[in-house]
Amino acid sequence: MCGIVGYIGEQQAYPILIKGLHRLEYRGYDSAGVSLISENGDLNVYKAKGKVVALENGCKGQDLTGTIGIAHTRWATHGEPNQVNAHPHYSESRNLALVHNGIIENYKALRTELENNGMTFCSETDTEVLVQLIEYMMKSHNCDLFEGVQLALKNVIGAYAIAILEKKNPDQLVCARKGSPLVIGVAKKSDGHVEFFLGSDATPIIEYTNQVVYLKDEQIAIMDRKGRLDIVNLSSVHQTPQLDTLQLNLDQIEKGGFPHFMLKEIWEQPNALRTCIRGRLNPTDKDVILSGVLDHQDRFLNCRRIIICACGTSWHSALIGKYFIEEACQIPVEVEYASEFRYRNPVIFPDDIVIAVSQSGETADTLAAIELAKEKGAFLYGVCNVIGSSIPRATNSGTYLHVGPEIGVASTKAFTGQVITLSMLGLAIAKVRKTLSDDMFHMLVDELYQIPDKMQWTLENNKGIDKFAERFTYCKNFLYLGRGYNYPVALEGALKLKEISYIHAEGYPAAEMKHGPIALVDEEMPVVVVAPKHGMYEKVVSNIQEIKSRGGKIISVITEGDTTVKEMSDYYFTIPDTRDCYVPLLAVIPLQLLSYYVAVTKGRNVDQPRNLAKSVTVE
Ligand code: G6P
Repeated sequence: MCGIVGYIGEQQAYPILIKGLHRLEYRGYDSAGVSLISENGDLNVYKAKGKVVALENGCKGQDLTGTIGIAHTRWATHGEPNQVNAHPHYSESRNLALVHNGIIENYKALRTELENNGMTFCSETDTEVLVQLIEYMMKSHNCDLFEGVQLALKNVIGAYAIAILEKKNPDQLVCARKGSPLVIGVAKKSDGHVEFFLGSDATPIIEYTNQVVYLKDEQIAIMDRKGRLDIVNLSSVHQTPQLDTLQLNLDQIEKGGFPHFMLKEIWEQPNALRTCIRGRLNPTDKDVILSGVLDHQDRFLNCRRIIICACGTSWHSALIGKYFIEEACQIPVEVEYASEFRYRNPVIFPDDIVIAVSQSGETADTLAAIELAKEKGAFLYGVCNVIGSSIPRATNSGTYLHVGPEIGVASTKAFTGQVITLSMLGLAIAKVRKTLSDDMFHMLVDELYQIPDKMQWTLENNKGIDKFAERFTYCKNFLYLGRGYNYPVALEGALKLKEISYIHAEGYPAAEMKHGPIALVDEEMPVVVVAPKHGMYEKVVSNIQEIKSRGGKIISVITEGDTTVKEMSDYYFTIPDTRDCYVPLLAVIPLQLLSYYVAVTKGRNVDQPRNLAKSVTVE
């Protein structure tokens, strides 16, 4: 939700900032802006409605000099996406410019107070209130920028990651965070000079340095041209910056010949999952080793219940995780929308384990849900992709997905990474609790190990989807059906289509179709049925008959060699056979490709669908 970039050093800042904005555009893209302190000492701000290219076009012919700057790409919360509301925002005297990611919840009260003190505002944003408040504090307390920021932030309720430039002090860059992420890149040059880079995540930083400091909540950082990095908290206690080395390379965040990140990430899944299971699934000993579980065996042995909190696609993978963990470990598992859970005073016991599933590790509701669970004494476990993000830092233990950066807004490889990680987690817990026979355990490990190869097969053998997707671009509605482990796959397939093609789609448990959605079925209605030769296969076949007899078009996902459903289907995708519990890892792939090609044929912006953002760091 909004991306922040910053730079101070010896290089010209503008090209670095624009490149960084392009890398962060997945976080929000309704407007963008940049601020630079120019060579002749002006504090310039340039903004544009729309994407970063619109900003670049608007900047042509302007004074873009300066070796210090901040920039922002916005996903609007307060105030419509237009040029005025775009960041950076000036303070009234134009001595300060600020960019912000997050929400200032008490901005109305603060604005009224500032207006009563004679300050005037240009925009409708909560961000302008923040920069005005800092200026007000600096004037009324006759203090410097750092102290002004500290005083202002003490009065603020909400979440923020901010970066600020001060015209009168062009040799320092100040930033702060609470609840929204901010990473500082530190690049030491051979001549001894140090330059600093700022980013909402590490993607704008990686091509300059792999040395980073993840700013923590309520920390303010001051970077200057002499290479000084001071970190102080809101109570003025100095903090020692902890330097981490990024495990990221440039190839991972570029398209590598694919037209879209989404397609690249779909095709990356076999290798991404190989990396995910490496060192964790051992095919020789048929064992699973998750240090996150091994280090806390007693908690898993004695836990009464597991609650999984997540949002969006991560909620779908959590549901598959529930089915698996309940079956393999005989522990009750509840799956909660984090946004609901956090506000309804849920019953949480100290011997509960609460698992947060999140690609970004930054989703505000998921973070708040685990904070609530922490207060009630539960043990917290994170299943996240982004290393060093807020959720892994807030949990007692966890497992990273290690599927590499996911840039496309519609989640693909993170979904399958979450499903395979939750399956490994279920196996690791089953081992601790001895709930599976050795034979069953070995067989499940063995089969899980085969999944990346079977994913590759699925990708190679469903190549015609681009051709037939064209026929569905004019449909107004889609229905997705699945049972058991494949009900969440139906939900995920429908979400993918909605997100990127803007076609209305619903996922339903196949048998529930008779209680409502069947009324929608007619010749215009494609019904996607996940129908592997497993579990309730016969019952799903009956559901398909019911749809066909009402004229619906059947698009099925079938097991290789199944002729029954194949003959009943108007179109079909084939997946190799696997255990019932692992079918989602394969069945979701053709559904990802279907939504991708329908959206491309409709001319949609697949990687940056309207109104969505990759990382939702506001409620
Ligand atoms: C947004 C993204 C989804 C994602 C959801 C949860 O809505 O567009 O792709 O599933 O947030 O994000 P998380 O990072 O917590 O998995």
